[in-house]
Order: sequence, then structure tokens, then C-alpha cells
Amino acid sequence: MADQMKLGVLTGGGDCPGLNAVIRAVVKTAINDYDMEVVGFQDGYEGLIENRYRTLKASDVSGILTLGGTILGTSNRADPFHYPVLQGDEYIYLDRSSQALQNFERLGLDALIAIGGDGTMAASNGMTEKGLNIIGVPKTIDNDLWGTDQTFGFDSAVTSATEAIDKIHTTAQSHHRVMIVEVMGRYAGWLALASGVAGGGDIILIPEIPYQLDVVVDKIRSRNRRGRNFSIVVIGEGAKSEGGDMVVKKIIENSPDQIRLGGISNQLAAQIEGVANIETRVTILGHLLRGGTPTAFDRLLATQFGCEAVHLAYNKKFGQMVALKGGNIESVPITEVAGKIRKVCHDTPLLKAALSLDTSLGVDNTDILKAEKALA
Ligand code: F6P
Repeated sequence: MADQMKLGVLTGGGDCPGLNAVIRAVVKTAINDYDMEVVGFQDGYEGLIENRYRTLKASDVSGILTLGGTILGTSNRADPFHYPVLQGDEYIYLDRSSQALQNFERLGLDALIAIGGDGTMAASNGMTEKGLNIIGVPKTIDNDLWGTDQTFGFDSAVTSATEAIDKIHTTAQSHHRVMIVEVMGRYAGWLALASGVAGGGDIILIPEIPYQLDVVVDKIRSRNRRGRNFSIVVIGEGAKSEGGDMVVKKIIENSPDQIRLGGISNQLAAQIEGVANIETRVTILGHLLRGGTPTAFDRLLATQFGCEAVHLAYNKKFGQMVALKGGNIESVPITEVAGKIRKVCHDTPLLKAALSLDTSLGVDNTDILKAEKALA
């Protein structure tokens, strides 16, 4: 038993469907394949810094495959290098990375599996440089992580958004309205693009392509002229008009990424009604897209990510993030991932498909094809 390996696991950043599927795969693979011990830290890096953890046995992860959220809890404020501590009425920020490393060593851990998005990968990169043995697992409904073809959680969010768009179609058709559906996704348009295409959206507006109001209105009018007297607009929360700004809903002071987006659809609805006098309604899907049971695709991806993370830990391939590449489960150095965001670009196949379907992207479609490079 002396050389039994010991793993830590944590979930950081916003929750999403599939987190529990990864935790389950990590614990089961660690126990079944390698007879390892696993401890789960609560609320992301907060648990490692503040010594809040528990041993995870096979029975602790039984029945959680289909469960949304994370049994470990999460936090999008727990950056070990910029850790918020309330002093009086104000937050001060301390570097608690040495504390995290100390706790890791004191617990006799061989590796930490950090499941999270870009914030967690950036923190993990810093902790790797400090000497902590980390394996990253890419999570986010935004699908904006560098180094992997897809993050787990994205497929489930696309599915939820598509179901919502399908339902909204009936009201759009019955009332001859413009219906705008706003989805999350931060600064990347993956969620809007994928759910927009899957839901048959007539206009898809993404952060990467600032839209022109007159092009949006022309599209709605041209549909009306063809007897299609309703339109579905799918818009990413980070979208903006040409020359305009993103709509910031909230500033969260003690969060590493302080900006919370949301509400661009209300602005667009007012503009459409003002310019074209066409009745327009807004639905902001928000956190609904982070909830619920993971799709089968996400369960499979999350499970394979979790298994591979443990194999990497066993083989001492630290400082790597597991990744989906061309249908295979591989890994990339966390240092290559940290600090980058993957956005929709000119050669995204789905973007080209949307153009072929004559879906409006809020600008002259031929301009997008001409200015392809500008999107990258
Ligand atoms: O990164 C996931 C995400 O859901 C984004 O799409 C969204 O902008 C953000 O998190 C919302 O964060 P919070 O849960 O802090 O409001």
C-alpha cells in the first residue's frame, strides 16, 4: 500500500452538464484500473486552499452520471494567485498559491485533476509552474477553450437552446412576430451558431461578426415579402452592432473575469421595433443552458476525458489538458491553452453551412466570404 497513488479532483468555474460524469469516470478509473485513492476538493481551488475535501469512494459516485451540476461544488472566484478575502466591507486579494501547494503536499497527493474552463486552466497553468502536478479537463457550455475540438457541456447546452428555439417557433409563426432568443457563450459565438443552425434560425448574430441593423431588418422584411411573416433571431450574449458595444449585465468584483454579459437582445428588439415597426419579443435563456442532464454525447465525452486524465496521471504526464482532436482523445500542454480563447472563425464549417442556407449573419453574407480572414 506504501506506493498507492493519491489523486485530487476539483471542479472550477461555471457548472455545466457532464461535470459529475467526469468525476465518476475519474474515481472509477482510479480505483478499478490503478487502485488509487481519490479526494475531492469542494468549490474548486477554494477547497484546496482552505482544506475542504473528502475522500471519494466508488459508492460516492454511483448514480451521478446523469446528474447536472457538480457534487463537489464550484467557484468562479477562487484564483489561487488572486484570492479574494473579505476585509471589513471590502475584498482584498492575496496570493494563496503557496498555501495550495502546501496543502497538496501535506495530503500526499501525486496529482490534481482540475476540471474547468479558461479561468481554471489559467490558474492550473500557474500552479503547474509552481510545481503542482496537474491534469486539466476542458469544460464549458461556451466551447471556447483552446486546444480541444470540443468541451464537454457544450452539446447539452446546444440541445437545450435548440429545444427552446423549436418551442419559440410556434409563437413566432402564430403571432407573425420576430422572436429573439439570446444564448450565453461570452465572447465566442459557438453556442449561438450551433443552436441557431440546429433550430433553423433565420438570423444568427455572434460576437465575432458585429451586426448591421439595416441588414437584420432587410432580412426580416424580405422574409415578410415572401410570405414568411415571422423571423427567429438567435443572438449570442456577446454580440454587438457595428460600432456598438457589448451589453454588460453585471460586474462581479471578486471574480477573475468580472464582466457578466446579457441583454443585447432587448437593445436589438427596441431597434427593430423602432426602425421597422415589427412586433418583436425577447427570450433570454441564460443559466437554463447550464442545467439539466448531460446529453449522451456529453456523457461519452466527459467519461472518456475523465478516464484519460487518470491514465495521464498514472503515467506522470503532468501539465497536460485532455482534449478531443479529430474524434480521438488526446492531450495538449496546459501552457498552450492558458490565456487563450477559441472563437468562431472564417473556416468554421458550420459558419459556411449557415451561409449556404442563406441564414443572415447580420452583415452582407458576401462580405463575410470576402473578408474571411478578418474573422479569425
Ligand atoms: O462560461 C459559462 C457561462 O455560463 C457564460 O456563458 C456566461 O457568460 C457566464 O458563465 C455566466 O456566469 P455566472 O454564472 O457567473 O453568471
